[in-house]
Amino acid sequence: MTTPTASFAGRTVRRIGYGAMQLERLHDRRDEAVALLRHAVELGVDHVDTATFYGFGFVNDVIRETLRDDDGVLVVTKVGADPDPGGPLPLRPAQRPEQLRASVEDNLRGLGTDRLDVVNLRRLDTGPGLRPHGDQVVDLDDQLAVMTALRDEGKIGAIGLSSVSLDVLRRALPAGIACVQNAYSLVSRDDEDLLRLCLAEDIAWVPYFPLGSAFPGLPKATDEPAVHAVAESLGITPSQVGLAWLLHRAPHVLLIPGTASAAHLAENMAVGRITFDADTLATLDAVESRSSEVPIG
Ligand SMILES: NC(=O)c1ccc[n+]([C@@H]2O[C@H](COP(=O)([O-])OP(=O)(O)OC[C@H]3O[C@@H](n4cnc5c(N)ncnc54)[C@H](OP(=O)(O)O)[C@@H]3O)[C@@H](O)[C@H]2O)c1
Repeated sequence: MTTPTASFAGRTVRRIGYGAMQLERLHDRRDEAVALLRHAVELGVDHVDTATFYGFGFVNDVIRETLRDDDGVLVVTKVGADPDPGGPLPLRPAQRPEQLRASVEDNLRGLGTDRLDVVNLRRLDTGPGLRPHGDQVVDLDDQLAVMTALRDEGKIGAIGLSSVSLDVLRRALPAGIACVQNAYSLVSRDDEDLLRLCLAEDIAWVPYFPLGSAFPGLPKATDEPAVHAVAESLGITPSQVGLAWLLHRAPHVLLIPGTASAAHLAENMAVGRITFDADTLATLDAVESRSSEVPIG
């Protein structure tokens, strides 16, 4: 399959990867989860996004069981929140330096490796969901100190940031940042300024919720009439329009759409072949952007 590539954390990866969070929905069907991830690799996925709190360790377990070294998959995980079974949300903030270190150790164990390719420092500055309170309001410099120490120790290959403001990204640049994961999609483009700074600094822009997520209340590319019109005219699906628009946005955009469906996975992997003419792009660019800054759960 001809999927375009881009550089990321010193490697070359296909621009269409896989966000593994939706695998948590297969918690009671482990074999299906393993088969879906294996199928993703067969379709060309070489970049997988995960976290210990996806399915309370289940998703990392599936990745450990499924991926082999010779698959050559870049696995990106995140720290900054811990699983919270029984809590109002399935995760709680864990922003303090010692919590970041403990979470890296959890990920090393869960993924069965002695070095994590890329770890996103998942802050709580912007985007949907949690905001920090009390001792969870932690200075960026204290967090970067532990992240860079972990990189020096060889436990982390590269550092990324997630849910950060422009100011935080600017302050973090001297530490060496491989990627930024903020919520961003065709219908929710709060962070154009961060996307541009990442392009200028050769940092991969890896939007989460590229389709608007499975959570109700967040803007979804597939709810947009203009997206449906383009899909119909090109004989593709509305989701494919949303993902292909992201690939057209800039060359440093990498996709991690999430799905628990083999059919959707195949559709998502096929978007690298989709091209838009100038009028179609202009139509999609003109779609109104709505903020993703809404509570979740
Ligand atoms: N850094 C962070 O804080 C953060 C936060 C959230 C998520 N993430 C990462 O970002 C990844 C992507 O986010 P996400 O999975 O929440 O949301 P998403 O990719 O925007 O959307 C996932 C939803 O879209 C559906 N979908 C996917 N492909 C489809 C297709 N071709 N046609 C129709 N529906 C389709 C999925 O349902 P089906 O399963 O039925 O296909 C699911 O309901 C996650 O998997 C996770 O790895 C990171």
